[in-house]
This record gives sequence, structure tokens and C-alpha cells, in this order.
Amino acid sequence: MIQIPKGTKDMLPSEACLWHTVENAARETAELYGFKEIRTPTFEHTELFARGVGDASDIVTKEMYTFLDKGGRSVTLRPEGTAGVARAFVENGLQGGALPFKAYYLISAFRYERPQAGRLREFHQFGAELYGAASPAADAEAILLASRFLNELQIGDRVELRLNSIGCKTCRARYGEALRAYFKPHLSEMCEDCRTRYEKNPLRILDCKNEGCKRFTEGAPRMLDYLCDDCRAHFETLKGILDGAGVAYTVDPRIVRGLDYYSRTVFEFTTDLIGAQSTVLGGGRYDTLLEQMDAKPTPAVGFAAGLERLILVMDAKGVPLAERTSDVYLAGLDAASRGRALLLAEQLRGEGLIAECDLMDRSLKAQFKYADKLGAAFVAVIGESELEEGAAEVRDMSGSSSERVKFEALAQYIKGRLGRREEK
Ligand code: HAM
Repeated sequence: MIQIPKGTKDMLPSEACLWHTVENAARETAELYGFKEIRTPTFEHTELFARGVGDASDIVTKEMYTFLDKGGRSVTLRPEGTAGVARAFVENGLQGGALPFKAYYLISAFRYERPQAGRLREFHQFGAELYGAASPAADAEAILLASRFLNELQIGDRVELRLNSIGCKTCRARYGEALRAYFKPHLSEMCEDCRTRYEKNPLRILDCKNEGCKRFTEGAPRMLDYLCDDCRAHFETLKGILDGAGVAYTVDPRIVRGLDYYSRTVFEFTTDLIGAQSTVLGGGRYDTLLEQMDAKPTPAVGFAAGLERLILVMDAKGVPLAERTSDVYLAGLDAASRGRALLLAEQLRGEGLIAECDLMDRSLKAQFKYADKLGAAFVAVIGESELEEGAAEVRDMSGSSSERVKFEALAQYIKGRLGRREEK
């Protein structure tokens, strides 16, 4: 049998409720803040990511699923959502529309990484992007949305917000020089990647996972000490807003993020529940991305959360889920009753009830066993005498009581007993 590609996963129907809980919370929370959904292609021209995400990032240098299509064009499966949204924002003339522009997405993304718990080659993200606002209030809105989303999933108490500022082009250039001066004497002992990073973007060195390099990064100068006055004021105002909103955070100067487009605010929500891949959500401000893509400069801020990691946290915490199982299973004793059961089931579905019936000519006992596995709340049995009477024998699966209910009253009866959707 052909097997699933390494680093990918099936989502089975038994897990659907968990995924839907996360996706619904994402949509509902984003919409509370006025964000609307955006969908962009799964693949883009490779150039978009090379320029957008940055050709010094690990994502672009090592992890992209890039191939030539039949027309000989280089295309790439998106490794993240931001670059595609930025392209769509510009290409569709939205820069000239109402600002701030706010959009969210639920996507799959692809990175050729070494798979491990919480790290896949195809994974899923909920992301939100806000264009046009340079104020710290916009950063705060992104963080508040992210934080409310995690609270909605009931894992807010198991994550920690880490916040940093990596400055703007001006102060980062000064910082870059300070980093180069600091790392220079150690370069010969550092990995090859870091030597390239040293030339291209020394900030990336701080993100190196190599133990040999980490030795040196610990004592490196901190960006926060190099912020220019404007960047410092921006960061202070943001912290003030978060304090006022009661959002707890830790300033963590080690957060630099793995993508090259950030400036000023960067943040991550991490957890201690799921091992090494502990960042469940990351984001920040990226005021120069559009410029990098040759579009009119527009300030922007956003984040993305990894759905698989959120689900691992929810599992580890044992978050209870409200799964809706079958309301009623219609069991038929003979061919005629099965035929009636099928029509009745269809009628009940029209009333908004989850109704199932026998499709395998099973014995009554086997039908009950299956209904039990489904978690059906009621089983309505139809046999010869019930057919004659125009009624079903309805068994409450949570007890042993049963009642005779006329076919035409079945929907109302079950709704009444379930005690829901009555008002509708
Ligand atoms: P990122 O930090 O690369 O940022 O990814 C965001 C989140 O996606 C991570 O925190 C993690 O939860 C999840 N993630 C990343 N890679 C994997 C993987 N291989 N397997 C499973 N989950 C993964 C971005 O993607 C930015 N576009 C976020 C952003 C939006 N910044 C501004 N706007």
C-alpha cells in the first residue's frame, strides 16, 4: 500500500470536531475585530517568497517546496501566508481602498523541515494581517486578537506572550554592526550558515539552533539597547496599551523570528505543554515588506498560529469539546420498515436533526450496537406492528425507557427531549 508522505497527516472524521472548534474560534474571533477572510493561491511565483520572506531566512534557503511547472516557471508551495496576502493586497488595488485593511486566513502551508512532534511538512495556519496603520495601537489589536483567540480555545492559561522590538532599518543597521563586531572573533568556530548570515543579516545568527553557535549568541548585544527614539517610543506605547488591557507579557530580547520581513514589534506565544516546538503563534510588524516587493510602502502587522500545535496543547490540557453526535437512529426490522425508516430519517433531517438509518440490512441487535457506537441519543424502532400503527418505539439511549411516538410527531418529540433548538 502506498503510504502518506513524510511530515504530512490525515485529519480523520474522529478529529473533525477538534479542528472545527479551532477553525470556528479563529473565524469568530477575527470577525469580532472586523477582519474578513481572504483566500490566496496555494502556490505563488518563487520570487514572491524569495523577496518577501527573505533570502537569508532558513525558510527560503532550505525549506521551500519549489518546482518548475510545465511552462518552465518556478513556483513554490506557500511556506506561510503573509507574502501571498501582501501580493493580493497590492495586486487587487486594495492599497487605495479603505485603510486599515484587515484580513484573516485559514490555510495549509508547506516547509521541508525535519518532521517531529508539532513540526510537519504540510501544516495549517490561522493568520491575520492588518495593513495601513503604523501606530502601536495596530500592534496591540493584532496581539489582543491573538490572545482572545487562545482564550477562546481555553488554552490562554497555558501560553505565555513574549514580546520584543527589533527596531527599524536605521537602528537595526547600527545593531547589525554591533552584532558583526561581537561575532567577528568567533566566526571561525561558528557554522557555515552563520557565516553567511553574518554577511547577509547578522540578526539571523541569534536564531541559530546549532549548539556550537548558541554558545556565542547568549552574550550578544541586545537589540533593545540599540533602539532609536521612535522605535523605543513605539515599543513603550505598545506595552502601555497591553498593560491597560490586562494582557500579560514578558519582554524577551531573544525573539527575532525566522522571517526577514519584520521591523519593530515581534511577538510569540509559547507553551510548556508540547515539547520542543513550543511556539504556537508568532507575528509582528513588517513595515518594509511591500517596499521589498516593489509596491508603495505601507505599514503592516500580523500573526499566524499553527493549528496542529494548538490542537496538541488542547489535547495535553484536556480541553472538553462539545461534539454533536447522532440525535436519532432509525432501526428497521424488515425491508418495508427499513424503507419507511429511510424516509422518516430524511424528514427528520429536514427538521435539523442528525438522523441515521440502517444501510447494511443488519439485525436489530446489530443496529442497536452501531447506534450505540455512533453515540445516538435515541433509537426509533420500526417493525410490522409499528408500521401498521404509524408510530415508532423510541428508546432513550441514556436509559432503558421507551415510548411509542406517532411518525408525524417524531421530530417534535425528539427535539423536545433533546431540549434544544426549540426556539428556532
Ligand atoms: P512563523 O513563525 O513561521 O510565522 O509561523 C507561525 C506559526 O506556524 C508558528 O508559530 C507555528 O505554530 C506554526 N508553524 C510554523 N512552521 C510549522 C511546521 N513546520 N509545522 C507545524 N507548525 C508550524 C509566519 O508564518 C508568519 N507569516 C506570521 C506572520 C503573519 N507574521 C506577520 N503576519
